Amino acid sequence: MPRGPCFIPLLLLLLLSLPHSQAAFPQDPLPLFTSDLQGASPLSWFRGLEEDAVAAELGLDFQRFLILNRTLLVAARDHIFFFDLEAQEEGEGLVPSKYLTWRSQGVENCAVRGKQTEECYNYIRVLVPWDSQTLLACGTNSFNPKCRSYGITSLQQESKEMDGRARCPFDATQSNVAIFAEGSLYSATNTDFQASDPVVYRSLGPLPLLRTAKHDSKWLREPHFVHALEHGDHIYFFFREVSVEDARLGRVQFSRVARVCKRDMGGSSRALDGQWTSFLKLRLNCSIPGDSTFYFDALQALTGPASLHGRTALFGVFTTQTNSIPGSAVCAFYLDDIERGFEGKFKEQRSLDGAWTPVSEEKVPSPRPGSCAGVGGAASFSSSKDLPDDVLAFIKAHPLLDPAVPPATRQPLLTLTSRALLTQVAVDGSAGPHGNVSVLFLGLEDGMVLKVLPPSGRPGRPDPILLEEIDAYSPSRCSGKFAAQTARRIIGLELDSEGHRLFVAFSGCVISLPISRCARHGACQRSCLASQDPYCGWHSSRGCVDIRGPGGTGVDQAGNQDSMEHDDCQDGATGSQSGPGDSAYVLLGPGPPPEAPSPPSDAPLGPQSSTLGAHTQGKGKGAAGRGRSDVWGC
Ligand SMILES: *[C@@H]1O[C@H](CO)[C@@H](O)[C@H](O)[C@H]1NC(C)=O
Ligand SMILES: *[C@@H]1O[C@H](CO)[C@@H](O)[C@H](O)[C@H]1NC(C)=O
Ligand SMILES: *[C@@H]1O[C@H](CO)[C@@H](O)[C@H](O)[C@H]1NC(C)=O
Repeated sequence: MPRGPCFIPLLLLLLLSLPHSQAAFPQDPLPLFTSDLQGASPLSWFRGLEEDAVAAELGLDFQRFLILNRTLLVAARDHIFFFDLEAQEEGEGLVPSKYLTWRSQGVENCAVRGKQTEECYNYIRVLVPWDSQTLLACGTNSFNPKCRSYGITSLQQESKEMDGRARCPFDATQSNVAIFAEGSLYSATNTDFQASDPVVYRSLGPLPLLRTAKHDSKWLREPHFVHALEHGDHIYFFFREVSVEDARLGRVQFSRVARVCKRDMGGSSRALDGQWTSFLKLRLNCSIPGDSTFYFDALQALTGPASLHGRTALFGVFTTQTNSIPGSAVCAFYLDDIERGFEGKFKEQRSLDGAWTPVSEEKVPSPRPGSCAGVGGAASFSSSKDLPDDVLAFIKAHPLLDPAVPPATRQPLLTLTSRALLTQVAVDGSAGPHGNVSVLFLGLEDGMVLKVLPPSGRPGRPDPILLEEIDAYSPSRCSGKFAAQTARRIIGLELDSEGHRLFVAFSGCVISLPISRCARHGACQRSCLASQDPYCGWHSSRGCVDIRGPGGTGVDQAGNQDSMEHDDCQDGATGSQSGPGDSAYVLLGPGPPPEAPSPPSDAPLGPQSSTLGAHTQGKGKGAAGRGRSDVWGC
């Protein structure tokens, strides 16, 4: 029953939980809990080798993460660090088990040519497994990109140094992506110093070298590459670029997915020789529907495939145009929606200053341009080199398709308009005791990590739940050469579900965070359940405990009378009875159904604060339950 000071917050909560009307712009969700890193073990940070004077001055210069089996690799300036995930259980710290060093040869000459010394280091921008024994690494190497292969266990260099152009950018500020598929490297970056020649490139394998058409803005226009994915017969590339089809408003960024066929052999000597015959691209539509559609057009980061509402999806972080009002959104795209988009109509510009419109089907030659030779409609062509000239001429002029891939559930999973921009995303598609809950981890420009339950996809919970907000940046432990503004920016997120932790990268350092802090609810069952955290479960004797992935059972169900007598909540959490709302919470589930009573009046309303690492994990009620610092909302 609402009473006393709890009454007004309860009303507020009710108002906030009303479904938004069609026209209303979604509001930023409020966090259920906030945490910071005060008190967390200093060993959870890594900012470079102790003995490295450059690291002491400049910080780590993080470039990218790679998880191989149970090893986390961190590519940085002049080094690749290896962290053994088995050996390093939570709290034990972040110390590399080994590392390799690869410095630029030309640092002095480079500095002479008017570059800052720090731009001349070797920034390792490509780090991909070539096969089970070998890693490919490419670095900027004083604006002279090079690649090398290394034995994964020996860390010995195996091949001669190779030219890194079209595989690795010239400087660390340019974007790039790379993956191996069937023995070939697929890379996307700029091939030159000025970033004027962007390319999607294939090399190193048994198949012919191929690239996108040179200096053709219809193929690529100032792209910023974000992600690459192998799926079926294709390699997919995700990026943002300056749109060609919407030039009326100036330089408008659009987000894209492009794809090429893995078996593409290039065109004939008459057309597209040495170039893709299968390069097609589509717009990604991350927008809020309404009388006028509001777009988040600039893709910033994308996850690999994970499950959303039982279908395979990719989760992307998008922002508004750079000169627009700042806002960001998370949109998921179902893989089958993306594939369907590639079956859509082609798009073309009728006259030079005219609008771009769909090409009518009778003008499209056969087999459908962009098809993989030997498959489907192009099954009768054994190689792309045999494709008819009119097909090659058409695909060269029409890489852009008309449809835009709609977001899953037709709208963003989350929008943020009143706080720092989103920069990174990681997803756990198999959280909860049944392994069927998706949890998003989002990184922001200001160093916050958000843990979010996306909308349930069923009537009842149309809004996301912001489970937790964690201030992950520590200026004293993660300083670098960068101004405070960019130093706080989260530039990498990597989830280690097995190890129950999240790695967060800033330019200056990498940190490791446990993905849940269930013990802070101690022996208070109500608080444990109200946290709605799929990583937390109620255990009748151990209180609120971390559950790790599927099979993490042995926890009581909500409403279990047995467990209630152990309820031990502090302060305003009066009485030992759980409120009537408790049974409305599906323990570890996606939240209360619509008709359920609101949470008990003394449930937390404002964000709860907690300090990471200050609490040990639930080791029994006595230890975990008493002396909590949790402060109840009323
Ligand atoms: C990963 O583990 C598998 C199975 O244990 C092994 O076959 C494979 O070679 C390992 N890969 C790497 C890169 O170490
Ligand atoms: C994007 O999706 C919205 C809402 O579903 C739709 O109204 C809009 O036309 C779409 N935009 C494009 C370019 O397809
Ligand atoms: C997960 O699986 C359990 C048991 O099969 C089911 O009760 C629950 O509704 C599922 N949750 C979601 C979000 O699909």
